[in-house]
Amino acid sequence: MCGIVAYIGHREAYPVVLKGLKRLEYRGYDSAGVALLNGGKLKVYKKKGKVAEMEEYAMGKDVKSHIAIAHTRWATHGEPSDRNAHPHLSGDGKLAMVHNGIIENYMQLKQELLNKGHQFSSDTDTEVLIHFIQEIKQSNDCSTEEAVRIALKRVVGAYVIVIVDEDNPGTLIAARKGSPLVIGVGKGEHFLASDASPIVEYTKEVVYVNDYEIAILRADELILKNISNEIQTPYIQKLDIELAAIEKGGYDHFMLKEVFEQPQTIFDSLRGRLDAKSGTLTLGGLREHLDTLAAARRIIIVACGTSWHAGLVAEYIIEELCRIPVEVEYASEFRYRNPVVGKGDVIIAVSQSGETADTLVAMESAKEKGAIILGVCNVVGSSIARLSNGGVYTHAGPEIGVASTKAFTAQLAVLAMIALKIAQAKGSITEQRFQHLLDELHDVSEKVATALLLNDQVKVIAEKYKDARDFLYLGRGYNFPIALEGALKLKEISYIHAEGYPAAEMKHGPIALVDENLPVVFVATKDSYYEKIVSNIQEIKARKGKVIAITTEGDAMIPSMADDVIVVPEADELVAPIISVIPLQLLAYHIGVSKGFDVDKPRNLAKSVTVE
Ligand code: AGP
Ligand code: GLU
Repeated sequence: MCGIVAYIGHREAYPVVLKGLKRLEYRGYDSAGVALLNGGKLKVYKKKGKVAEMEEYAMGKDVKSHIAIAHTRWATHGEPSDRNAHPHLSGDGKLAMVHNGIIENYMQLKQELLNKGHQFSSDTDTEVLIHFIQEIKQSNDCSTEEAVRIALKRVVGAYVIVIVDEDNPGTLIAARKGSPLVIGVGKGEHFLASDASPIVEYTKEVVYVNDYEIAILRADELILKNISNEIQTPYIQKLDIELAAIEKGGYDHFMLKEVFEQPQTIFDSLRGRLDAKSGTLTLGGLREHLDTLAAARRIIIVACGTSWHAGLVAEYIIEELCRIPVEVEYASEFRYRNPVVGKGDVIIAVSQSGETADTLVAMESAKEKGAIILGVCNVVGSSIARLSNGGVYTHAGPEIGVASTKAFTAQLAVLAMIALKIAQAKGSITEQRFQHLLDELHDVSEKVATALLLNDQVKVIAEKYKDARDFLYLGRGYNFPIALEGALKLKEISYIHAEGYPAAEMKHGPIALVDENLPVVFVATKDSYYEKIVSNIQEIKARKGKVIAITTEGDAMIPSMADDVIVVPEADELVAPIISVIPLQLLAYHIGVSKGFDVDKPRNLAKSVTVE
């Protein structure tokens, strides 16, 4: 999920790939490395931390070479460390590889290789793949290119890989499935990168590699094949977007890019874990704790901000499926309250950054009191992840925008899987409902993609209400936390005061705010609370409030009452929040942009609140 740069040609390769990695720094990462080939010997320099730290480490070392592969890592398998950084070497040290993505079946491949005597120096899925390629090369006595082709037919997962081969110093081999890869076509030189930003200063001629394609690059030759070894004609395009635009993938802001990444990031968070076809759900990080979870007398979720909202959704789902009492605590309040916590309690800490001070200390105090601690984090090896006894990573990739969007929906997907896993272990869910919810989660990425098609419509609604002084967001049940999240997004991005409330609770005070100047956003998708929320909408309309309703396709009732309607795909109410939050993210974004604010770095906010 992070950054790759490679070069072969007449220039000194190291400065090109080093500068290229710096061009990719905006993507966020935890370690960096480079492999060079000169005089028939591979040299690898790699370090945990920033590109600058890897650069310092390589200072004064032999970096002369006309071929290089380089990588910034966003760890998914194996915590950030020098030994887990890329490039990784084959067992015989003759092949070096960098990889973006996830090899889902790496454990199975690793076991086969261990049985054949392979030894590994890292915990990564990547190292397994390069050993597997070497094993195929040796046992089939074939070329590296052929070994790559054969190996990738067995690989399950997403990858961009680039390999340099000691025995073929004039060749780079690359392949792609599910992660991006761009080839830069120069005169007597070729470039490879995860996006065009490291390439654009050298050449505007690029080839976007397609899934299941393999590229063989020499200084003055580019061969493209598919995984069936058939030659493909490279389609050379002229780059016409500027560097700044490339970094944001052509979007105006990182936040919008990340909102639109959600179909992929939700899919990535389910990848290798949820298999609706076989009806299985595998959460390796919970394996040792499933019995404890199933027997838990109480689950306490500690988190802050948007992650706290994800915890609230999880409360409804876990109580519904597992019949275990759940409390959702603001970490900052929990830690100072001297909470009654002890053995038999399970703490689930939810955090995108994995570094939020309040959440970290809340976990520490619960751990001292004997509770089991599980983490749901987006950063492998983060402090919260390391403090946890177990847990499940979201695979949303680096979230650059300060306002959390793709990490939130990834948290919802992971927390729903955790609830299903506990319910299955407890026997508190029927086979049929388990399978139904697996299917629903499997389908949710596509429904999010459909919800994203509402972007232009939401932009029009944003224009209409952008000057309102206050907003009220109302929802019930699983959508109540989404009302809170929608209000938080608006506050963060547009600095407009907004309150989220349980829709029924509005009668106990906030209804006094309602008049013709107050936009009220209802998260009113079709669910078991539908009839109730219809009456709440009527109560607002009776007081001339302006109603913006998020409804389910096919609903005729609410559109006849609301001033503005945003229709999202239908889904089971337990996974519907993943979809109903999408228009609210877009609404906040467009209102913030229309008011001319920096939506990626809103005033007063930090991406990770590492202070109390
Ligand atoms: C969300 O948009 C905010 N940036 C903020 O509330 C954030 O969710 C909160 O600080 C928790 O951060 P964490 O998930 O990294 O722990
Ligand atoms: N899955 C690989 C690892 O954890 C690659 C991660 C990435 O895309 O940076 O090392």
